[in-house]
Amino acid sequence: MTPAGSLLAAEGLHKAFGQTAALDGVDFSIHPGEVVAVLGPSGSGKSTLLHCLAGIVLPDSGTVRYGDHDVTGMNDAQRSALRRADFGFVFQFGQLVPELTCLENVALPLRLNGVKRKDAQRHAREWLERLEVEDTAGSRPGEVSGGQGQRVAVARALAARPRVIFADEPTGALDSLNGERVMTLLTDAARDTNAAVVLVTHEARVAAYSDREVVVRDGKVKDMLAGLI
Ligand SMILES: Nc1ncnc2c1ncn2[C@@H]1O[C@H](COP(=O)(O)OP(=O)(O)O)[C@@H](O)[C@H]1O
Ligand SMILES: [Mg+2]
Repeated sequence: MTPAGSLLAAEGLHKAFGQTAALDGVDFSIHPGEVVAVLGPSGSGKSTLLHCLAGIVLPDSGTVRYGDHDVTGMNDAQRSALRRADFGFVFQFGQLVPELTCLENVALPLRLNGVKRKDAQRHAREWLERLEVEDTAGSRPGEVSGGQGQRVAVARALAARPRVIFADEPTGALDSLNGERVMTLLTDAARDTNAAVVLVTHEARVAAYSDREVVVRDGKVKDMLAGLI
């Protein structure tokens, strides 16, 4: 089980790439509906932490628990099934599928979860409306602006009602106005659906949308509050 009340928790994570210790003994936990910002300079280990929490990368040692699941004990197929069913992802550059329309991109995670095409498309359209980009439905990602594309990516991350959303520098490629709008829409939608958000960013104004901040430095996590007390 995870620590009391938490949804996802990591303990004692170590991960090295060659001689580089990307994670050097990291503990982390997040509650349902909580938005936690992971801050820190470039190269400090933020993305590696996100990848380990999401079961994309296995740590060299330490454990990741999600509810009753031992994520670090699962094989590739089990972790990928868990990601598809329970997790949503927003990356810096959207990473939409270029050959699909924006509507099809948002419908994709639903289709992968077995939702019928018509239902998936109707649901996807609702999410595009919610993210205020319904105009992009028939366009391909290459035909929309960066801000629109990132809203489509947020719609895609949320459409299958994930329990945890992993966002890695979600506004890193946007101007500040678009960035703020994306953060508002992302965190409002997450709070409405009681999804937890692991929000990796190096920008304080993005972290301001979180409930709590942790700072990663040299592969170690420092709780902001703990540092102040
Ligand atoms: N796949 C990889 N191969 C080699 N080194 C990596 C890899 N991923 C991350 N690193 C290294 O691990 C450290 C932490 O990287 P990362 O987690 O991406 O930091 P951040 O997201 O905070 O910028 C850096 O020194 C980086 O170069
Ligand atoms: Mg990174």
